[in-house]
Amino acid sequence: MAGRITLTMIKPDAVADGHTGKIIDQIIGAGFKIQAMKLTRLPKRKAEEFYAIHKEKPFFGELVDFMTEGPIVAAILEKDNAVEDFRKLIGATNPEKAAEGTIRKLFATSIERNAIHGSDSDENAAIEAAFHFSGLERF
Ligand code: RTP
Ligand code: MG
Repeated sequence: MAGRITLTMIKPDAVADGHTGKIIDQIIGAGFKIQAMKLTRLPKRKAEEFYAIHKEKPFFGELVDFMTEGPIVAAILEKDNAVEDFRKLIGATNPEKAAEGTIRKLFATSIERNAIHGSDSDENAAIEAAFHFSGLERF
């Protein structure tokens, strides 16, 4: 059975550009319930840990610089089939390939600065939720 949560981060580009409210509105409008949410900034070592799977990739250094350049909004979102449905809502990694109406199509400016993160599996959703939030911060 598909899991019921996913973890998102509204990335530093979208927060700095003032898109937080519109993005949250779109998420709620798509039927996701917010279990936890906060404005926070990742220290370098936490960004490296979060994206450790990409540490051998040529874009890793740039990715860590980008994700630490300013505050992000992290949230745990709840819905049936949350991981898959949220990846559909945000669209492809490269905004040029993202479907019309998706969050990345609307707000991302490049494959690197692509506005929002979504977990890629139920297993990673649970790991990423625990990375950002304690039990007391989840509702
Ligand atoms: P995310 O993890 O942030 O939700 O993004 P994703 O699954 O769609 O893409 P992933 O392959 O996990 O890549 C993580 C993030 O690294 C940056 N990236 N840059 N220059 C490049 O070719 C490149 N590829 C990926 C993006 O910020 C991407 O979201
Ligand atoms: Mg990913």
